[in-house]
Formats: sequence, C-alpha cells, structure tokens
Amino acid sequence: MKLFLDTANLEWIKKLNQMGIVDGVTTNPSLIARENGEFEETIVKICKEVKGDVSAEVIGVTHDKMVAEADRLSSLAKNVVVKIPITTEGLRATKMVSSKGTRVNMTLVFSANQGLLAAKAGASFISPFIGRLDDIGHRGMEVVEDLVRIRDNYRMDCEVLVGSIRHPQHVLEAARLGADIATMPPEVMMKMIEHPLTDAGLKRFLDDWQKTKHASAPISK
Ligand code: E4P
Repeated sequence: MKLFLDTANLEWIKKLNQMGIVDGVTTNPSLIARENGEFEETIVKICKEVKGDVSAEVIGVTHDKMVAEADRLSSLAKNVVVKIPITTEGLRATKMVSSKGTRVNMTLVFSANQGLLAAKAGASFISPFIGRLDDIGHRGMEVVEDLVRIRDNYRMDCEVLVGSIRHPQHVLEAARLGADIATMPPEVMMKMIEHPLTDAGLKRFLDDWQKTKHASAPISK
C-alpha cells in the first residue's frame, strides 16, 4: 500500500520523507492556501522533494479551463498528477487530459458510482473522501470497499486513493479493504509511528542500561 501526505507543508514533507515512508503527496486549494506560498512554486518544491506522485488541483469549473490548467500543471514536473473534481465538466476534462497521457486524480468523490464514472473517463486515481462522509453520518469506508471491488471486478486501470483521512484507524481499514493509497495529514502519519508502549519500553531499556556494567559509554545519551 502506498502512503501519501495530504499537505503542502514542506517542513512536514521533508521530515517524513527522510524516513522513507512517503510515497507521494496530495494537495488541494485549501491546503495550499494554508501555507501562504505561491501556488506553482510550492508544487515545484514538493515535486523536487518527493519522487512519487504529487497531486495539484485545477480551479477552473469549465472543461476548457480545466484542460488548460492541467496542461500548465503537468508541465511543472514529471511527477505532477492533475486533480480534477467530479462534475460533468470535470469528467469531460478528464477524458481529454488523460487521452493526452496526463494522469488525473479525480477528486471530491463521495459515492462508488461517481468513482466508477471517473474510472471510465480515464482517471488514474479515484479519491473518495471518507472523513467528510463520516462527518455527515455516512460510512465512508463503504465507498472504499465498493470501489475496490468494482475496480477488481472489471480490472479497471486505476488506483483507489483514500482521502479525507482523520485518524490511523482509517488507514488500517483502508489497507484491510485493499485500497491502493491512503493520503493523510502529517499528524496522522506521526500517530501511526508513535505508541505509548514503545516509549515506555524504550525508557525501561535505557534505564536498565544505566544499571548495567559496560566497558564503553553508549554512543548517545
Ligand atoms: C485528498 O486528496 C484531499 O486533499 C483531502 O484528503 C481532503 O481531506 P479533508 O476532508 O481533511 O479536507
């Protein structure tokens, strides 16, 4: 399973990427706005830092504007994936953009049927937003389960990219269901690393080491 960071924050991206656990990055207009940087510059910097796929979103709402933006975004770096929302115009743009060989991440997917249409239009990545569905009392994971099954039933050439992840349990469930990618805020990835028993266990080992006779001092404190 691939793990992506859902952020435009370069410090977080660098910190977690150094550990070899980041396969890609997803951004959206809200995440970019939070960082106060220039949009294209931010995307280029992220693409230099992370070798895997980096999603950058169009903001046009008509297919011609989306296609023009997609051309511009995909020229920024080889690993840019163009994010397009699922609307009638978005599907039309996806068909055109993917026909030219540019990979599309179809975003704002809230139902399996929307995802099915995205795959048919040629999207390489389908992004169900599970947290936002949970927020309104639906079961976001059901959409993931359906999409993975539909994709496998028909051997569709696309990856299910689970977005709007709120906590590590979402990542685990997505992995159990066979989703290809989970994209998460840096804080969620940190929570996946940390465990109170690891901290307690490490403290006990270090305390016991102090009580042990040893010829040389440990390399660090
Ligand atoms: C995915 O690509 C989106 O950027 C993202 O996961 C949206 O999540 P949110 O509901 O936390 O904004």
